[in-house]
Formats: sequence, structure tokens, C-alpha cells
Amino acid sequence: MPVPAVPSKGFLGLIRLLDVLKATREERGPQQFVDAMDELGGKGVFHTSRVESMKSVPIGLGLFTLRGEPWRHSRAVLRPQFSREQISDLELQERHVDALTTSLRTGSDGWTNVVDLQPMFFKMTLELMTEFLYGQSPAQAGQETGALNTQEFGHHFDAGKVWINIRSALGKWHWLVQPPAFSRDCKKVHRYVDYFVKAKLEKGGEQSAKQQMPHDMPKREKFVLLDELATRTRNPLEIRSETLNILAAGRDTTASLLGWLFYFFSRSPRIYDKLRTAILADFGTEASGVDFAKLRSCRYLQSCINEALRMTAIVPILERESLEDTVLPRGGGPDGSKPVFVRKGQRVLISTYALQQRSDLWGDDFESFRPERWDNRNAGLEFVPFGAGPRKCVGQQFALTEASVSHF
Ligand code: HEM
Repeated sequence: MPVPAVPSKGFLGLIRLLDVLKATREERGPQQFVDAMDELGGKGVFHTSRVESMKSVPIGLGLFTLRGEPWRHSRAVLRPQFSREQISDLELQERHVDALTTSLRTGSDGWTNVVDLQPMFFKMTLELMTEFLYGQSPAQAGQETGALNTQEFGHHFDAGKVWINIRSALGKWHWLVQPPAFSRDCKKVHRYVDYFVKAKLEKGGEQSAKQQMPHDMPKREKFVLLDELATRTRNPLEIRSETLNILAAGRDTTASLLGWLFYFFSRSPRIYDKLRTAILADFGTEASGVDFAKLRSCRYLQSCINEALRMTAIVPILERESLEDTVLPRGGGPDGSKPVFVRKGQRVLISTYALQQRSDLWGDDFESFRPERWDNRNAGLEFVPFGAGPRKCVGQQFALTEASVSHF
């Protein structure tokens, strides 16, 4: 029996393709995916897709983009960067959150003017990730260091992603879209990373990135990914790709989560007040009482973060390619409830957004931001904002810590 598939629209499916691109531009891509699945009558189940993923990824080959043995090796090298000792040290996160809050000017009444927090979150996560990966702060706008500053990087990174999105929607025809602007964006993004890699390789493997940190930064013995990679390879392209993979994975995701959290708080003063009361009860007014274990045990804070992850998914679609002919238990038949055969090499898209918006799993109020739904709930595979299985997000604890610290 054929697999239910979203029907093609227009010549060569071009209308369907334009629909997808339009939805992404209007920031309703995940919902459009759900609507397409609803057309098939099987909301939230897995459906095979004819969309091919992009073949060439400008962030290069690294943990995100590798497969098989090279991926296993890369994951083994990078795991120590995300060990509990690394991420339980809150000093890095606290320092960057402090820098953000200091830049918010408060009036005599203790309140700030209306402010757009989203660009500030993107700047903060980029600076934090840069220091985490390279042991150095990025250059600031106006600083003459020869390095690309965060503003320039952000601009080219975001512009490059728009092209990647168009190219990936085109699947095997992605090579048709290779405009000079895209090449320029890629070059600039590479230049940002190459500055740190070049400095490291020129100074030699013995001098660690932590020794190059500015004077006002504490010099602690920390695992710095750049140091670790430089002891294993002197190939600048390899180091660039590995670190850029993590930078790409950690910047937008965490900044988006923070943006969504504050979006929901601004619409629900009750929830914000309740969270504030919970934080004051657990930590008092001094940020110095904050530690990793206490952060994770502040239940209402974790419920708010979970609920924002559930509502938005942040990474709304996961993708897998079948390594052999196999059968998935559901997804076939007219209503998607029968087993489905997946050919070797076929891609499967999994909408975590749809999964986390199912009324049968989350109740009729699934569209409401309600942290209380987490009061007595330990989520299983119906809540996978960080993915599941061997390729699960390595930065999960890092991201959750960063999101938690940002509330102080
Ligand atoms: C709210 C924040 C974040 C979310 C929602 C998120 C989500 C995800 C998801 C869904 C995946 C794919 C998992 C799969 O395919 O099963 C992933 C992979 C990954 N994430 Fe995250 N992530 C976040 C933050 C971070 C951060 C801060 C870092 C790094 C510091 C990071 C590093 C990675 C890496 C390297 C991978 C690829 C892992 C692999 O393929 O082995 N992520 N993430």
C-alpha cells in the first residue's frame, strides 16, 4: 500500500515548494508542516517525505553533519566539552548574563524602557559560545582587531541561513541556487572562526587558548575545544568545521528559547510573578547563592523552560535517513496507522513540533503556555526537544543551564 504523501502542487511541485518557502519566510514553517500532515489525516505520526536535504553545508563536516564512523569519532572527542564538571561551572554563563543585564538601563522606578531582547539574546549566546569554544571573547563592533565582530558575524550567518533554507527546499536541485551573496556570507562566517583557529595554530599547540584570555578574565584550567582539537589535528579546515558545527548548534537555539520564554512571560504577568516568587524563595536576592544543583531543582523555573520548549520545539523537525530497508510501526495505510516500509536511503522527517502539540498527549489546552502541566509529569518520548537516541543534543545541559541562569 502506498505511503500517504502530501500531493505535489503545480508544475514539478513548484507551488508546494513556494508554499514551504513562503511559510518559512512568514515564520510559520513548523505549523505549515502540521497543516500538511493534517491534510493526510494523521497528525503527529511519522510520514515519509520526498524532500531531500541539502548536499553541501557551508558549516563543513563536523559533529552535526558527519555520519557513521567519522561522526562517532567526532562525538567521542567532543563529549568532554559537555561533561557535568564543565557545564556545572556557572561562572561563564553568569558573566555573560551580567553583561546583558548591565546593558539594560533602568529608570528611577527600577524599570527599563521597552526593549527588544531578541537581538541581545543572540549577541549574548554568540559571545558565550565563542568563549566556550575558543577561550576568547569575540571582537566588539568598532574594535580594530582584524577579526570579524559579532554584529558582522550575526548578519552574515543569518543571511547565509536564508540561502541554505532555499537550497534545502530545492533538494537535489540545490546547486541551482549559488548566488554571489551566499558565497560572500559563507566567506565572512568562515573568517570569524578562522581568526581564532589561525591564532591558535600560529602560536603552537602548547599554548592553550585559556592562556590567551584577556587579563580581566579568570584563568582557570578549563577544557577548551580549540585546545583539544589542536592536539589532534593541525588541519585548519577540520578545526574550523568542528567548531563551527557547535557554534551553529548552540547560538540560535538557546537565543530562541530565551526569546520565547520572555515572550510568554510578557503575555502572562501571573506566570512571571509566580516564577519570580519561586526564585526569590529558593535563592533569595543574592545571585551568589545560585549553583547548578539548585538551579535544576527550582521546579517552577524548569517547568517554564519545559513548557516553552514544548510550545515552540525550537528545533521543530528532525531528520533521519534509513541505513537499511526497514519497517516503521506506523505511518502507512490511508490514515497513517499501519506499518510503513522505509527503503534504504530514504529520508524520514519527524516533526517534534507536531508531536508536542497533540491534544491527545497534552490535553485540549495544548495551545496554552501553562507551566503547571509539568507539576506531576515526567515526559517520555512525546517530549523530545533535544532529540533522542545516539544523536541526541550534546549541548542539552549547557543550554538548560544558560536558560536558567538568564532568569537572575
Ligand atoms: C534550547 C537549546 C537547544 C535545543 C532545543 C537543541 C536541540 C537539538 C536537537 C533537536 C538536536 C538533534 C538531535 C537528534 O537529531 O536527535 C541537536 C543536536 C546537537 N546539538 Fe543541540 N540544542 C540546543 C542547544 C545546543 C547547544 C547550546 C549546543 C552546544 C553548546 C548544542 C549542540 C548540539 C550538537 C553538537 C548537536 C549534534 C549532535 C550529534 O549529531 O551527535 N545544542 N540539538
